[in-house]
Amino acid sequence: NKVVLAYSGGLDTSIILKWLKVAYDCEVVTFTADLGQGEELEPARKKAEMMGIKEIFIEDVREEFVRDFVFPMFRANALYEGVYLLGTSIARPLISKRLVEIAREVGADAISHGATGKGNDQVRFELAAYALDPNIKVIAPWREWDLQSRTRLLEFAEQHQIPVPKDKRGEAPFSVDANLLHTSSEGKVLEDPAVEAPDYVYQRTVNPEDAPDTPEYITVEFEKGDPIAINGEKLSPAMLLTKLNELGGKHGIGRLDLVENRFVGMKSRGIYETPGGTILLEAHRGMESLTLDRGAAHLKDEIMPRYAELIYNGFWYSPEREMLQALIDKSQEMVAGEVRLKLYKGSATVVGRSSPFSLYSEDLVTFEEGSGTYDHQDAQGFIQLNGLRLKTYAARRDQNK
Ligand code: ARG
Ligand code: SIN
Repeated sequence: NKVVLAYSGGLDTSIILKWLKVAYDCEVVTFTADLGQGEELEPARKKAEMMGIKEIFIEDVREEFVRDFVFPMFRANALYEGVYLLGTSIARPLISKRLVEIAREVGADAISHGATGKGNDQVRFELAAYALDPNIKVIAPWREWDLQSRTRLLEFAEQHQIPVPKDKRGEAPFSVDANLLHTSSEGKVLEDPAVEAPDYVYQRTVNPEDAPDTPEYITVEFEKGDPIAINGEKLSPAMLLTKLNELGGKHGIGRLDLVENRFVGMKSRGIYETPGGTILLEAHRGMESLTLDRGAAHLKDEIMPRYAELIYNGFWYSPEREMLQALIDKSQEMVAGEVRLKLYKGSATVVGRSSPFSLYSEDLVTFEEGSGTYDHQDAQGFIQLNGLRLKTYAARRDQNK
């Protein structure tokens, strides 16, 4: 029997690789994805080869990640608990999808991942896998093995000749997950939510205080709710997000220190950096402000928390997420045009927007004399009828005083 393992090439997943072989006496196939985490992938191949792996899958999935996962999510302006842009949550379904596909390709009946037994990620990996293949088996070593302490883990590595880099001997100072959308840091030095995160936790944004003193203006062009160009230059989805990350990182945009509610029940504290995503959310909202009808815009805002929660909880591949996606995508048909933003010391602010499909009418809204499609007398009746029940209510209150 065979297991396909989501393998980063790091110490933990190398230990998992060995442990799977020992505990299950199985052949291990590795899958390493370039999601834009900014790490070389070839060392992962070398390490897997060294540990006797014959089937090694290494893939650049950055374009698929941004095109089919990040952009659809941004059409919804999705935020979990008001602020979290879901950078880790949205990457998990893609990894599971490839794990399941590779399992089919190589004739494996199980997949495995390195998420702990306390977090959200185990839920996301596994729900996605079951949704895609009801017969797939999942092995979650962190829930099974007895290597719970760092000491036991390092002992196991030593026993099995897994090289432990010098800086990995002690506890890592915190746990990191990175991809093109964000970097998240959790645990260890960050575990006391009363204490400010040390500066060295931040990895891809400058401190806003140290960002350039002159603002930078950019334009983002949209088509059907997705960004397609920056400053007039057409870019592929992954290249566009890469560019926004550069701009955001330089101006200290997209830092977040959050205490959130995990699906499994406990609260956790995380430091997030989502430079490009933060600019994109602002820009997209700016584009929608001009092009979406009020009813459509408000309905989107009502379902947004529900949609975000589905992604956070691991239900990307669920009928209800797909239904909501169809609604959201339908709303984006005319979300096109250009948004101008000002980037300055940690903030991305929309300062201008234009669209061939704009619903904004200067003639309607102007404080000057308009051309007459709006009748002020209509407003009087409108207010009288809306005020009727308020007057009735107020009269009863005053009678019973
Ligand atoms: N709390 C975030 C989420 O559930 C990030 C989880 C992974 N982060 C990490 N540093 N290991 O989406
Ligand atoms: C983990 O537990 O593996 C990371 C944190 C999370 O999944 O929430």
